[in-house]
Amino acid sequence: MGNKIRIGALISGGGSNLRAIMDACEANRIDAMVVFVGSDNPEAKGMSRAKKHGLATFSVDYKAVMEEARGELLESLIPEDFDLQGVLASQHFITSAWNSEKLATHFRTRAIAEAALLREMAPYPFDLLVLAGFMRVLTPYFIDHVNTNPSRPRIMNIHPALLPSFPGVDGYGDTYRYGCKVGGCTVHFVDYGEDTGPIIGQKAFEIKPEDTLEAVREKGLMLEWELYTECIQLFAENRLRVVPKTYTLKNGTRVNKKVVEILAGKRERHRKEVALCT
Ligand code: GAR
Repeated sequence: MGNKIRIGALISGGGSNLRAIMDACEANRIDAMVVFVGSDNPEAKGMSRAKKHGLATFSVDYKAVMEEARGELLESLIPEDFDLQGVLASQHFITSAWNSEKLATHFRTRAIAEAALLREMAPYPFDLLVLAGFMRVLTPYFIDHVNTNPSRPRIMNIHPALLPSFPGVDGYGDTYRYGCKVGGCTVHFVDYGEDTGPIIGQKAFEIKPEDTLEAVREKGLMLEWELYTECIQLFAENRLRVVPKTYTLKNGTRVNKKVVEILAGKRERHRKEVALCT
């Protein structure tokens, strides 16, 4: 095991992924330590476990922030470094026909909540921020404050579906209701869209005819716990690179995509070197 990376975690609910990550850290199965756990919901069940383990915790009550920010107070609460036009130009998760006023209010109120999150996180420097069942879409305002080196993203999310299928809030439900025969989970870096960032890892499971939605969720969660810790370990070993790729389709259209390349680990490199020498 090498040097430990410092992980910050954001959750909204039960926190079983957080538990898996904390267990892996405490058992030295991954080169990482959790330095804070934050939430958008003061009632999140996962917070009590973090507290029991003596971790720094905080919550920013998004609902209360939204309430407070309504009306006249809004202007005075907006962070000074918030650039509405910049955020609107880079975000790509709201495509609906929202009018400009609704869009502006959405991103302004989010920036107020996100600035509060950033203030709470500030005392705890971290290498990687993991979203572990954090049910808010982070805006470019927050992402740019964390990803200070654009070529080295450092916010990961776990999603309960095989992306790019079924982004959004109910990945297992959407997979199940669609009648899929295979379900799965995905860990990806967070970008300016909703569940659209470069994919780091995925695991899949079979959906049998007799499976209920609960059974699907259970199978999925068990894989999530393995997948998340594996991806965190790849990050800790500095083996993840986000590289731009350009593909030309048959009709001549050029497609640009950022993908994650996983560099060989020490053992794999050693095996290759031995093979070359023999
Ligand atoms: C997990 O299934 C996770 O993939 C999902 O929420 C659940 C949280 O469970 N996340 C999302 O849907 C994010 N869009 P947990 O609180 O027990 O870790």
